Amino acid sequence: MSTEDQTVKQLEERTRKAEKETKEIEEEIEKLSKGDLSYIGDPGLDKLLSENEKLKHRLAILENAVKAESSAAGKSTTKEPRKRPTLITDINSIEGAICILDELKNVFEIAITSAYPDLEDPPVVITLSGNNPKFGDYQCNSAMPISQLLKAKNIKSNPREVANNILNKTPTSPIIERIEVAGAGFLNIYLNKKVAEHVLTYILRDGVKPPPVKRQKIVIDFSSPNIAKEMHVGHLRSTIIGESIARILEFLNHDVLRINHLGDWGTQFGMLIAHLQDKFPNFKKESPPISDLQAFYKESKKRFDEDEVFKKRAYTCVVHLQSGQPDYIAAWKLICEVSRREFQKIYDRLDVTIIDRGESFYQSRMLVVIDELKQKNLLEEDEGRLIMWGSEDHEGIPLTIVKSDGGFTYDTSDMATIKQRVEEEKAERFIYVTDMGQYGHFVLIEKCARRAGILKEGQKLEHVGSGVVLGEDKKKFKTRSGDTVKLNDLLEEGLKRALDKLVEKGRDKVLTPEELKQAQEAVAYGCIKYADLSHNRVNDYIFSFDKMLDDKGNTAVYLLYALTRIRSIARTAQVSTEDLLAQLEKSGFKLSHEAEIKLGKVLLRFPEVILKVSNDLFLHTLCEYLYEISSVFTEFYDKCYCVEKDKDGKIVKIIYERLMLCEVTARIMEKCLSLLGIRTVSKM
Ligand code: ARG
Repeated sequence: MSTEDQTVKQLEERTRKAEKETKEIEEEIEKLSKGDLSYIGDPGLDKLLSENEKLKHRLAILENAVKAESSAAGKSTTKEPRKRPTLITDINSIEGAICILDELKNVFEIAITSAYPDLEDPPVVITLSGNNPKFGDYQCNSAMPISQLLKAKNIKSNPREVANNILNKTPTSPIIERIEVAGAGFLNIYLNKKVAEHVLTYILRDGVKPPPVKRQKIVIDFSSPNIAKEMHVGHLRSTIIGESIARILEFLNHDVLRINHLGDWGTQFGMLIAHLQDKFPNFKKESPPISDLQAFYKESKKRFDEDEVFKKRAYTCVVHLQSGQPDYIAAWKLICEVSRREFQKIYDRLDVTIIDRGESFYQSRMLVVIDELKQKNLLEEDEGRLIMWGSEDHEGIPLTIVKSDGGFTYDTSDMATIKQRVEEEKAERFIYVTDMGQYGHFVLIEKCARRAGILKEGQKLEHVGSGVVLGEDKKKFKTRSGDTVKLNDLLEEGLKRALDKLVEKGRDKVLTPEELKQAQEAVAYGCIKYADLSHNRVNDYIFSFDKMLDDKGNTAVYLLYALTRIRSIARTAQVSTEDLLAQLEKSGFKLSHEAEIKLGKVLLRFPEVILKVSNDLFLHTLCEYLYEISSVFTEFYDKCYCVEKDKDGKIVKIIYERLMLCEVTARIMEKCLSLLGIRTVSKM
């Protein structure tokens, strides 16, 4: 049985079980309500009813998953009419996280298909309404395109009429308070604040939980510097972006494999080994004190370029290494180890977790993939090379699978990586994070892998590309003397600048040395990461410590300050989380003031934002959301007192519900920051 079939089977089994449980509970409710009337107001019945709703909700999720799985397994090839989505019928059935956007899509899919049953796949367009409360919280903008479709079928209509027809067919949903037709045919949707109250209560009780999604095995290839060469700012971008993507996918409970595709194989090792033999002849017995591997690389490269005898020896070293001679393997391992130690220092500082699996890992697998391509008649000879085209009609440029000297290339190893990840890792999603310059390479790898039948339907290779890091002069990021910037030096400078900033604000006088150090690191590494992540990754971005350490605007420093300020509100009111929870059980959680409701609805969007980012892998959306939370929080805090004091500054009244709102805001902000790989501090 294929794994897809197994998953379908498992899901079907779980669905059956959930169905059985639902039925049992329904029967019990029947019995209870028939037998006697004392059930009225019985908390037992309430509990059963709410459990029943929850099970129905879970059932709907499972049914959707089965649907998705079996169509992935290619079962429903004939076009069946789409199953009517199951809607939420009771807010209390929502468990923790809900994607409001998806639910609205379901509601309007039903409305539109019943208003226009003859239209095939009518567009269900739901968007956020933006900042003007006049337009509701979300909008359904389907009326305009539907009116166009009708016109094409010679049916007279105008968008406003279409909007009214949709509205008439919209099923009632507890998450919607009201809908209005506006302007040229927009449907403005106002959410019921009760959804926000319900979901935020969950977060207060259980913390921030992910929305349910179908679990996937995902390989993410990121960072991937090259041994003996320097790890440059381009690798820093890939490291920061890759780490954050991995965190988000793991938060959604996916099975994520984080791979460091180190450049640890290739002809450069010939000259490195030859140089090592000369400089440290005793290297096998005594570990050579190479502190600067890049300088070592430069020295050997100089000799390679200038000395013919050395060059020849370097070539023989490559041959010995590739044939696996122990002495040469030992020398190679030693050189890799020195590099790895350097890389690890950076990963430790930046809280990056990654598994080293470099190009050398694919040595034998490259031979296998070449064989497969040969057998499938996909390789062509071209001036002594073996090449492969992405399509039969030789469009664009081909991959070089075997060089004319018989050696392999970057193309060869990436064909091997994709095969390994599909067949051995059994992954479904393949993410590669590199600079934009490699975009073409990965498009071609995907095409060739598909042509070769290695990559199958439903599996996709995703290249997550990033622009170049520029200096403040808008030229390629370099040191003053024109050298490439060493990452460790850059991080050191970040630390120094962060400390200067904290001292400038007099924080060294209020924080303990331990707290100051924590704040310094959070600010330094946080600001570098956030500056990178908050820009659309495909664009180049300007690296500027001054900008990233600014405490106004969309920066990590601003957000970290905002968060500590929110955290300090309850602290000054001397209300602990336990107090809040006790109060929650006593009086529940309500949103009353307009500014509270606005903030509540923004917080409600967390699952929607996470799902979007996990799909398109554009992290700046998450940064924008974080910034939006802190702006809307400021608006709320300006308008609503959480604590009332008398003129002597004595607390006379605590408004617990507002402190609860502060707590949820802080938790969601902390979750977002941690998904971005940014450490938070309680004081700064
Ligand atoms: N080492 C490469 C570089 O420095 C990046 C490798 C990316 N991963 C891959 N499977 N090609 O550009």
